[in-house]
This record gives sequence, structure tokens and C-alpha cells, in this order.
Amino acid sequence: MAFRSVLLILTLCLTLAAATVRAQSPNRANLPTYFPDTDMMRIGVYYYPEAWPAEQWQRDISNIKKLNMEFVHMGEFAWAEMEPTEGKFDFDWLEKVVKMCADQGLKVVLCTPSATPPIWLTQKHPEVLMIDADGRVMQHGTRQQACWSVQTYRDYVGKVDAELAKRFANNPAVWGWQIDNELSHYGKEPGYNDACQQHFRAWLQKKYTTIDQLNTDWGNAFWSQKYQTFDQIRLPNAKEQIAQLNPQQMLDAQRWFADETADYIRFQAQILRKACGDRQWITTNFMYNFNAVNPSLSANDLDLATFTIYPAHGNLNQGPLGFRLGSAAEMSFAHDFHRTITGVEGIMELQPGQVNWGEVNPQPYPGAVHMWLMRAFAAGAKMVCTYRYREPLSGAEMYHYGLAGPDGVTPTIGGLQYSQAASEIAMLRTVRDPAAKEPADYAARRTAILYNFDNRWDIDNHKQTVRWDTMDHIYRQYSALKRLGCPIDVITEDKDFSKYPFVVAPAYQLVDVDLVKRWTDYAQNGGHLILTCRTGQKDRRGHLWEGPWAMPILELIGAKISFYDCLPAPNTGHVYADGRNYDWVSWAEVLDPDAATDVLATYADQFYSGKPAAITRTLGKGTVTYIGVDSVTGELEAQLIRGVFQRAKVDVEQLDDGFLVDWRDGFWVATNFTEKTLTIPASATTPLLVGTRDLPPAGVAVWK
Ligand code: GAL
Repeated sequence: MAFRSVLLILTLCLTLAAATVRAQSPNRANLPTYFPDTDMMRIGVYYYPEAWPAEQWQRDISNIKKLNMEFVHMGEFAWAEMEPTEGKFDFDWLEKVVKMCADQGLKVVLCTPSATPPIWLTQKHPEVLMIDADGRVMQHGTRQQACWSVQTYRDYVGKVDAELAKRFANNPAVWGWQIDNELSHYGKEPGYNDACQQHFRAWLQKKYTTIDQLNTDWGNAFWSQKYQTFDQIRLPNAKEQIAQLNPQQMLDAQRWFADETADYIRFQAQILRKACGDRQWITTNFMYNFNAVNPSLSANDLDLATFTIYPAHGNLNQGPLGFRLGSAAEMSFAHDFHRTITGVEGIMELQPGQVNWGEVNPQPYPGAVHMWLMRAFAAGAKMVCTYRYREPLSGAEMYHYGLAGPDGVTPTIGGLQYSQAASEIAMLRTVRDPAAKEPADYAARRTAILYNFDNRWDIDNHKQTVRWDTMDHIYRQYSALKRLGCPIDVITEDKDFSKYPFVVAPAYQLVDVDLVKRWTDYAQNGGHLILTCRTGQKDRRGHLWEGPWAMPILELIGAKISFYDCLPAPNTGHVYADGRNYDWVSWAEVLDPDAATDVLATYADQFYSGKPAAITRTLGKGTVTYIGVDSVTGELEAQLIRGVFQRAKVDVEQLDDGFLVDWRDGFWVATNFTEKTLTIPASATTPLLVGTRDLPPAGVAVWK
């Protein structure tokens, strides 16, 4: 009897717990149905019915289907059609196209149109327009001209969203929703109107409670910067200040803008969710590598994180073919970061060919579009959508490729590659083994890269040298790991480190003692921790420590950091490791290790020649490695990181930089982002499902 009542109480508790989880995060429950494992990855395309004659819609949708697309994305810029005059909503045209899609078996992604307010709105309410750093009011004529801090704007957005959701939230053809479009002001952030200033002040008041605390944390005793009340504070703006901005004020402004944007996403997500419940998924298309918006803040509001990426738009720095193939590290990192936010990720915009907005807009390499799609597959993406179906004949995006060329019907080279990838995925679905287990040697290499927007903002606010590039630094560690064949999760601090045999925290500038304790426990329990230069220099406020340089990490790394150096161009410094010299130019820390710490690399010149640049130590059952120098090519870091895996006796691959090989759903997938022909790491007798054993640039191979 007693046992039964315990069971009953237990069941009740579990039910209540489940209910609480659901209430907090209603968006999680139905994920498997949105993206069934059997589908693996779906491919679709953007279409703008509002921009083409209604007589062509049926033809276009049929042609989209013929290209093997599985879904159509619409509506993100169509507010002027959805609400042609205030309060008069018209969704009939959209419903017609949704039906045409449904009749062809195509799913539909619909969007809230908040990136493009109609002219009647901004003329009636000019106060919703964004004000830039120069104090200019942004006008109608492009997009993202409205400010989401202004309540009037939110009210209008709320109404159109609610009407849109009312019409389509029960339509089974509608698969999911995208909120807005690439939330940003395209580099003019954060916006400086009264609403922004007031929201920033309110955010500060909530954070600091008293003005004295803010003055202390911002170091305002210096330069007589003290404020008497929160009302006196303005967003930092280089255009209205004489000398260097206050770094703590800048960091808080960046945090505020990211929070404000996340709040706006939440506001729209709640309107959609109220109407669609769990029937449709909700996302927004984050602009990859745009650092003013932090996707991690939307983890509880979105079902999946999607991003936009245009790999070939004149990126000349990635080997001789980088401008046509894109960067393997950048693209792969984007997948590995967005996936960890809710566990599901996809690309919402991927270029189908030449774009129109780069400084130089080259043709992608033959096969590159197909390779990017198959890379998304390898990385575990659940969906990829391409921007766009038809090449525009007028307007701001002329010259931008689509899946169909200017005649509206003939598939472009990229269009054919989309079609090819979609039919390959369809074929792979038929041979997928649902019981396939991740290979043990691959799992043993699983690595987390710890990533935090605060670090990136704070370093970039005060770099100390123009030769430092924060993301390039992170990508060099990332590439080093991919050369070993590691599966990588790019995680934020709220995640559990202990499930990763290796954790890398690159240039992790802001720390607190709790994080250092977690790192210490992680290593003590058998983890292998790799920290790189600039880690631990400051506390979370962005203050240097009142003590030795990088004080809280010194015990952990088993060394002191005597000082750091930066070299002005054209000087190059050298580091010696394993019989080779490596170049550095941006950042070098001179280390002073404890007796039990091993030296892995030493400086080969400058006045500190012979002093340690990289070190390692055992700690409990694990190890801690500190790489104090930022090498030019990343080759030094690649060698040092390889050493960590070797000493841990974990089998690794020897892959070329830019040759990515990953396992997904029972399939190995290799993609070649390099200019060389490379051979896949599979035995000569392994049958290939896609591609060839020797992969030319942009080549793809899939095998089991
Ligand atoms: C994206 C944007 C799209 C379109 C595209 C063109 O950044 O979200 O709306 O402008 O660029 O490449």
C-alpha cells in the first residue's frame, strides 16, 4: 500500500515536472514530428509571389517541385501586400500560393513581415524610424528602417502577426514560421532614438540597482565620468564623443542590444505560438557571424535556430579558391554553433550562385553549391533553404542568382546542383539504417568549443593590436580540430562540459571563479582542457584583476603570465616547437611555468627568446594545455592540439585543412573546400553512395 502511494506521488511529481517543463518551453514537445529522423534533411527555396504576375505562380510552383524542392519560403517582406492600408488585411493571395504548394506536396514556411514596414505606417508614425549614430532618421526605401524598441512599432507588428497567424496557424500545409528577417539594422545598430536610450537606461537600472554601483563598475571616477542618476546616461556613440569610449559602457550597450533583440523575437514568437501551439515550428534566420545579435538568448523561444550564409562573396583569404568555395571552418562552425542552441539547426538562406552585394561577386566554383548543401547534411542540419527561386529583373537585388535564371524557368547551374543534392538526400533516405550507431573512435574525439559573445565584444572593443582577429583566432582552433576528424559542438557556458572528452576555450577573456572551478573540476575528472591566449584576463564586468595577470586561471594552467607582446607591421615573431619555427604577429604571452608544468613551445626571437609560449600539465585524471601565442597560419596550434589528443591516446585523422569528414545518421560525408584533389579516408573496397574516392575541389563523397 505504502509502495503504491509512493508510486502515485512519484508519478504525480513526474507529471507536474513534465507540465512545468512544457509550460516553460512549449516549443520543445513536438520536435521529432517537425523533423522526423527518416527525413534527415529537407531542402527548399524562397519565393516572392508578390513580385511576380499571378499568372506565373502555378508554373513557378510546379517548376520548384520539378527541381526536387520540398518546401517553399514566403512572405518575409510582404507587409505592404498583407496590410495594404491600416487595419485592412489581405492574405487571399498568399493563401492561393500556399494551396498551390500544398497541391504539389510542398510544405510552406511563412514569415512575419516586420523587416519591411509599409509606407503608410512610417508616414503616419515617423517616430518608429530608426535613428543612426549620426542622428539621421532612416527613411522608407529599403528595409529594417524601423526600430523594435518603439512600442508603437511593436503594436503594429503585433497586429499583423496575429492576423497572419490567425489565417495560417491551422493550415496543415504550413510547416513553420520565420520571425522577421536577419534581425539587424545591417551594421547601423543599435539605434539611438529616445526609446532605445530609455530601454538601455531601464536595463542598466535593473542590472545595477544603484547609480553608485554603475559608477564603480564602469570605472567612472576616471575622467569625471560619474553619473548622478540613470536618466543622464546615453548609449555610447563614438560619433558624439571626443575620446575613447568607456569599455564597460560599450560592453553593457552590446549586452542590452542583444537582450532587446531577443525580447523582440520572444514578443513575436509568443504571438505565433498562441495561435499555432505545437502544430508549427518557429524560428528566425540569424545572420551568421553578425555579432550584435546573440542567438543563444532565444533558446527557449525558438524550436530551431537557423542562419543565413553566403560563402562565396569575394572572400579572398582562404587559399587560392576560397573566394569560390567559401571557408570550411566558417561554414562548419555556423552549423556546430546553431545546432547546440535548441538541438536542431538549419540554413535558412544559402546562395544558389553569384550574389549582388559583395565588394566583388565571383561565380562559385563548379559544384560548390552542391558541396555546401552536402556539408549541411554532414553537419546534421535538418533543413536548408536557398535564397531565392527566381533571379530578380528589377529592384535592389538585380544580378542575384536564383534557382531559375532571368527567364523565370530555366534552371541555373546552382539550381541544378540543388536538384542534385535533393535527389541524393532522397536516395540516402532509402538506404538509411535507423539502428546505425555513431562509430566509437569518432565519438571519442567529441570536442566542445566554448563560445561567449561577451568575450568577442570585449576583445573587439579593445584589441590592443589591429593585427588581432577574434573570429579568425577561433576558426584556427576549430580548423585544427576538424583536421583531426573531431565532431564539434560550439557551446555556451550553460551546457554540461563533462560529456566532452575535450574542451577548447579560445581567447576566453572574461571569466569568474565559478567558471574556473568548473574547468578545474572538468580536468580533474579526466577531461582535456585547452585554453588559448587572452583567456581569463578580466572579470565579467570587463575589469582587469587586482593581482597578477589573468589571476584566476594561473593555478589551473600551472604558470604565471609574465607579460604579453604585440608586433607592429611589418614585424613577424617566431615560435619554436617540435623542430619547427612558426610565425606570429598579433599576440604573444610570455609564460613562467611551475616546476610540474611541461613546456610545448618557446619564443625563437625578440628580447624574450627561449621563454615558454605554450605549456601543458596533468591535473587529476585530465590535462590542461595553455597556448599563449596566436600564430599566423594556425599550424602551430594544430600541432599542439594534435599533441593533446595523442597524449590522451585518442585515435585521430590526418586531414587537410578544409577537407571535412563527418558522420551523420549512419553515413560518412566528405566535402573538399580546398584547391587540391584529396582522397577520402575510407578503404579502397568501401562502396560509395555519392561521389568518387579522389575528390576534386568542391567534391563530395558519401559512404557507409
Ligand atoms: C540576405 C537577406 C536576404 C537577401 C539576401 C541576398 O542577407 O536576408 O533578404 O537580401 O541576403 O543575398
